[in-house]
Amino acid sequence: MAIKKESRLRGRFKQEINSKVQRYLASIPFDWRLYRHDIEGSLAHAEMLARQKIITRAEFGKIESGLTSILAEIDSGDFQFKHELDDIHMNIESRLFEKIGDTAGKLHTARSRNDQVALDMRLFAREASLQVIKTLQDFNMQLVDMAEKNIRVVMPGYTHLQHAQPVLFSHYIMAYFHMFSRDIQRFEDCLKRINVMPLGSGALAGVPYPVDREFVADKLGFDSVSANSMDSVSDRDFIIEFESAAAVTMMHLSRLAEEVILWSSREFGFIEVGDDYSTSSSMMPQKKNPDAAELARGKTGRVYGNLMGMLTVMKGLPHAYNRDLQEDKEGFFDTYDTLISSLEVMSGLIGSITINKARMKSVMQSYILATDLADYLVHKHVPFREAHSAVARLVAYAVDAKKELNELSLAEYRKFSKLFDKDVAEITLDKSMEARSSQGGTATQQVRHSIAEARKQMKKYAI
Ligand code: ARG
Repeated sequence: MAIKKESRLRGRFKQEINSKVQRYLASIPFDWRLYRHDIEGSLAHAEMLARQKIITRAEFGKIESGLTSILAEIDSGDFQFKHELDDIHMNIESRLFEKIGDTAGKLHTARSRNDQVALDMRLFAREASLQVIKTLQDFNMQLVDMAEKNIRVVMPGYTHLQHAQPVLFSHYIMAYFHMFSRDIQRFEDCLKRINVMPLGSGALAGVPYPVDREFVADKLGFDSVSANSMDSVSDRDFIIEFESAAAVTMMHLSRLAEEVILWSSREFGFIEVGDDYSTSSSMMPQKKNPDAAELARGKTGRVYGNLMGMLTVMKGLPHAYNRDLQEDKEGFFDTYDTLISSLEVMSGLIGSITINKARMKSVMQSYILATDLADYLVHKHVPFREAHSAVARLVAYAVDAKKELNELSLAEYRKFSKLFDKDVAEITLDKSMEARSSQGGTATQQVRHSIAEARKQMKKYAI
């Protein structure tokens, strides 16, 4: 079956397009989201055409009022998107014909959908990046507040998911602050390459009109204009970079989600997620499940998938524009939506948490202080390796004797090194933690410093 398509673009064909192909080609089900950016770009383009006397002022005036009223129609939900018009660009152009007649046909002078769609995607990606950066900053602000509020809470620090050394809970939280700060930097860096203006590249070779690309770039807030017309209509590096920064952010978020899931289990019992961020089981009435955190962890997969999808679309693509490039959109929108919603939900979930300080402390056995015992001997000039081995034997002895380290007598300590003295009893969880005062360590004064630095950094952003 064939369907009737816009006759304006079917001029050279004797047959209408096959309806299955038509549906297959249409990007309007998803690229309608570009309407604001498309209209913003068209307004700047038309104004430039008028300034350069490529169209008249009066024609620009008609185009401007037509586009402005189309924007209002779409905003208010009164616009009828048509699949047979393929994409957002053709939908808006066709409506412009209905509104202002043949003058609408002048808008596409010195422009191709190839540079138009590249422009739209860059405008969208710029807005998306700024939104992601803002959401990450809000998240980070919350982490810093949480770290400050709980500065006295000591918990086991892990390596290999085994008790390693006591740390401040705030130190743990600030680790995530630093991870998300790097994510912010990645999106900021991404913005530098997003913010390059492609319009004026035409279909691939440039345009044979005296266009003023700098004017359009200025008008739309771009830092520069693209340097090579073939590259600029087929470049989707900025999408890949955004998706890659998003993949790293989701990886970080999934680590946080995993710790929330583990820590709220009965075995850990370190935290309790608020009821408003928990789900129940349809079968087991006692269950309180962290589904939201699990989904944040799970959705990381699709964000990775979108990145791999786009890299694969681009692989081996000949210059310049190919319709393959239309495949940039769904993955990009999905990545953006998934990232923002995951950040917002996880941020709320983190805010709903109550911390079980007593539990965090009580799960720590004295063995977690073994490194401190070795350090004790090192302070008495024992080489670290020797101290390590003496304490390892001491711990094995205590484990066999089913005793905590503070239940051993001094005589028992001395079986392993004559240098142990009464003051060995002064090694406590707090002292161990405070002793780690090297730059970036877990000692309270270091963590306070890190919180203060974080606040300074965030003030800079707030300007
Ligand atoms: N919907 C198309 C896309 O997203 C717009 C560009 C179409 N260009 C073309 N030469 N068919 O890529």
